[in-house]
Amino acid sequence: MSHVRDMSLAESGRMKIRWVQDFMPALVAIRARFEREKPFAGKKITISIHMEAKTAFLALCLAAGGAEVHATGCNPLSTQDDVAAGLASMGVETYAMHGVNAAEYRGLLVEALSCCPDLIIDDGGDLLDLLSGDYAHLGKNLLGGAEETTTGIHRLHARARAGVLPFPMMNVNDAKCKHYYDNKYGTGQSVWDAVMHTTNLLVAGKTVVVAGYGYCGRGVAMRAKGMGANVIVTEIDPIKALEASMDGCRVMPMDEAAPQGDLFVTTTGCRDVLTRRHFEVMKNNAFLSNAGHFNVEVDCEALADMAVRVYPRRQDITGYELADGRTLNLLAEGRLVNLASGNGHPAEIMDTSFSVQALALEYLLHHASELGKQVYDIPEEIDREVSRLKLHGAGLRIDTLTPEQEAYLSGWQV
Ligand code: NAI
Repeated sequence: MSHVRDMSLAESGRMKIRWVQDFMPALVAIRARFEREKPFAGKKITISIHMEAKTAFLALCLAAGGAEVHATGCNPLSTQDDVAAGLASMGVETYAMHGVNAAEYRGLLVEALSCCPDLIIDDGGDLLDLLSGDYAHLGKNLLGGAEETTTGIHRLHARARAGVLPFPMMNVNDAKCKHYYDNKYGTGQSVWDAVMHTTNLLVAGKTVVVAGYGYCGRGVAMRAKGMGANVIVTEIDPIKALEASMDGCRVMPMDEAAPQGDLFVTTTGCRDVLTRRHFEVMKNNAFLSNAGHFNVEVDCEALADMAVRVYPRRQDITGYELADGRTLNLLAEGRLVNLASGNGHPAEIMDTSFSVQALALEYLLHHASELGKQVYDIPEEIDREVSRLKLHGAGLRIDTLTPEQEAYLSGWQV
């Protein structure tokens, strides 16, 4: 039975779900095929992804394909209670509540796994953690799963290297139709959407420090520049650092950037990117935010330890007053700012990411018996199918090679 905060919010949630589906044509096309073919008939699927409207629509598509779907969130602050109620009211078992503590969050994940699923979708690896530990027995029927994000993929590879991955996992993050668009354009837009509405302040003219110039960092930096910010990038990878420099950003270590920044966004997937020695030299009223998966990029414990007063400044902004009178502003408790204090990525972006997810699960269903306990790349055909559906949905057409062009490209003669 579903476990949500308040079923009276269901209509507001259903309205949000109806809205996003109008902008997710690829997933709508996949749902139509799933409805006809029922590929998941008799199967149970547990999904742990940020519980908001796009995720709810993915859950409904899998249900349309015949699955019994059990849905939970992947971060206690990104759950939208109305969407959880709306999804539960539409026949998907839903276990998600905004703002729960760590133990309650884990309890909701366990509830979502109690059906002993055949397939899972994970976002950051929390389901896999449970299924590899105290709750391994709930994985007895598992054919495999699919992982959504960069941080989850790092952990999957680490488990596979150590020989402790319990079942095959599909690497959705590294599909082109995922990270080319979601990590870059999705994070690029939704981080600023969240920062701007949370602070209600100007981006133009500010010095924005972006930590990490991977797919997410590039998107965040690109949009900051577009709005008139002066962008500094910090990196550990010389290739990415050079790219940032050629893209027109200033590049320097965080120790040098810390006293210059007005607004910091971490996008590294690493830990302790902003820590005590940086807080010590930051400007009064600097803003600290994180867009990486876990809330370990900004050292919130050090910040709390240094503060003489911690107080709410606006919704989702906590002020940390330091002994010398400066105040540093932490957004969304250092959690993924675009999800914890925003609406996540635009629907058009999640259309491609979740279409890959849906087709990755269908692929697992047909190929699980051939797969080992490894991490598998998404087959090229899935990327091509999703981009074809997406172009079609957008009313865009592209050229086709003539036989002469094909011969030219595959030979060496002019
Ligand atoms: P990526 O691997 O493309 O980029 C990470 C970059 O950070 C790399 O260039 C790396 O060299 C750099 N880096 C690592 N440690 C660093 C440090 N200590 N200081 C400075 N730079 C450092 O990864 P991607 O796809 O950009 O993802 C980054 C994080 O964002 C992950 O945790 C991922 O799960 C998360 N993510 C968040 C999304 C959101 O909606 N907020 C969407 C997609 C991914």
